[in-house]
Amino acid sequence: MSTQGLLDQLSDVGRDRRRGGYSRHAFDPAELELRTWFTEQASRRGLDVETDRNGNLWAWWGSPGQDALVTGSHLDSVPGGGAFDGPLGVVSAFTAVDALRERGRPPRRPFAVVAFAEEEGGRFGVPCLGSRLLTGAISAETARALKDPDGITLAEAAAGAGLDPERIGADPDRLATIGQFVELHVEQGKGLSYDNHSLAIGTDISAHGRWRFTFTGQGDHAGTTLLMHRKDPMLPAAATVGATRIAAMDASHGRATVGRLVPNPGGTNVIASSVDLWLDARAEDEYCTRAMVEEIAEAARSAAEQEGCTLQITEESYSDTVYFDRGLGQELGRVLGRVPAIPTGAGHDAGILAPHLPTGMLFVRNPTGISHAPEEFAEPEDVERGAAALADVLEHLGS
Ligand code: GLV
Ligand code: MN
Ligand code: MN
Repeated sequence: MSTQGLLDQLSDVGRDRRRGGYSRHAFDPAELELRTWFTEQASRRGLDVETDRNGNLWAWWGSPGQDALVTGSHLDSVPGGGAFDGPLGVVSAFTAVDALRERGRPPRRPFAVVAFAEEEGGRFGVPCLGSRLLTGAISAETARALKDPDGITLAEAAAGAGLDPERIGADPDRLATIGQFVELHVEQGKGLSYDNHSLAIGTDISAHGRWRFTFTGQGDHAGTTLLMHRKDPMLPAAATVGATRIAAMDASHGRATVGRLVPNPGGTNVIASSVDLWLDARAEDEYCTRAMVEEIAEAARSAAEQEGCTLQITEESYSDTVYFDRGLGQELGRVLGRVPAIPTGAGHDAGILAPHLPTGMLFVRNPTGISHAPEEFAEPEDVERGAAALADVLEHLGS
């Protein structure tokens, strides 16, 4: 089966009729269906599937062992996301297995296809949760207590999916078996949209993090409350949205976004009692990112004070700038010939693993340049080129 054909098998799973695109979040029905699909695809190829303590799926070709060559990505999506972010890396990994088999070139070292859990943080708020847990980048205690928008904890959701919440957490033995990790991913900006190349090698990921701003005021009646008596948390929240753009313009490679803002209780004729606002902030390095966040926080504090509201700021996640392994990147370049090497502003499980072992990324051209939205795209020919390139890389690294 072609890689596009395999991807098409997922085209009805987790479609979001309200938002458009796909909503597939950790342990929800769509994501569980994708887990079943993963297991079936692995079994068809004679791979042995295991779910690790943190809900990551591993499909082993032969026995697990030291210095394993691992490839894959994730199956979950952002709310209303595209079809490619995540699944493309998993389906390409499976068809690369097919290609290696057809070529009579099975890997001569332990080999696995992986699907990391909750890469987008779409349900529990922390991105790359499965790989963060694996590497110990988030503590088990913190992770277990994370809540989804309905107040269900990760521990409860994981237990519902058959995991033992007490065993969630750093998995150093498993981590130590991974010798190299290569993740293929759809390109998420315009890095290749205008390029003759359908593929690129990843060089680095910008520093990025998520901060939650909770503005608390006084809930009240929208018609009877005089303006001078209001403590309306929506005002400082709105001022903060404006401040993000200004701060991002000042920062090197600055990108700051408020993509989620939730008033409580959320009634048209109700002055909100509180507003939660999530800031996604990214810049060249930690210094630039934190300086940008501080500038936004300062604007938020002053707007909150002016309206008689309080403000609490919580850092929900942070990932420092990551440079992918140079030696592995050079090897990818030797196998693939003349392909561009490009950075990305998007986070990936490969970035979480990078401080622990050599990791590399391949990006497949996205002609729309749009991602985390239904318009995310890759041409079918590029999808096949990407999977063939991944097979070439795995053949080289596995021999
Ligand atoms: C994931 O794609 C992220 O960068 O948030
Ligand atoms: Mn994504
Ligand atoms: Mn992704």
